[in-house]
Amino acid sequence: MPIDHSSYEIDVMISAKSIAAKVESLAKEITAFYAGTDKLVVVGLLRGSFVFIADLVRELNMPAEVDFLEVSSYGDSMKSSREVRIMKDLRGEIEGRDVLVVEDIIDTGHTMAHVMTLLQSRGPKRLEIATLLDKPSRREVEIKARWVGFEIPDEFVVGYGIDYAQRNRNLPYIGKVRQLE
Ligand code: IMP
Ligand code: MG
Repeated sequence: MPIDHSSYEIDVMISAKSIAAKVESLAKEITAFYAGTDKLVVVGLLRGSFVFIADLVRELNMPAEVDFLEVSSYGDSMKSSREVRIMKDLRGEIEGRDVLVVEDIIDTGHTMAHVMTLLQSRGPKRLEIATLLDKPSRREVEIKARWVGFEIPDEFVVGYGIDYAQRNRNLPYIGKVRQLE
């Protein structure tokens, strides 16, 4: 069933200002963690992480390569499917490299678990995760990100790269979807 974009409203959950402050502090921690690494590979999971990764890499005070991986997970619905396929693979090699996977949101954890298995099989030196949002109460498989921007409750969120049926990615803040009666 197609989604009726007039049947919901979006309430601000995390302001653009709070996000910016968080990105800055995460980048400081990440830069400190990777002190001595000559060139980090920052892997953004498309499409949801594109805004976060753009802001994050500009706050990193170290050489960083940027690459992207796209896996399919959700269809145009609020339900998570467990099916994960590679839609677009990395361009670069990660063997022996320090790799930081950047995600918009970890929900059940299935997507990230698959991505970790895939990337681990390529023999990176270290493989870490930075996620802007985390919904720990929804977890079905064990996945823990080293860096988490905000832990949020079980709400469907949009904005700052995150979509609802391909809309609302361009909102500068994180908003909560509220269905209208
Ligand atoms: P998981 O496999 O259930 O952890 O889902 C991860 C992916 O589902 C994320 O990368 C998002 O693309 C999507 N997702 C999970 N929660 C939300 C949400 O609240 N809004 C929009 N997309 C979401
Ligand atoms: Mg995603």
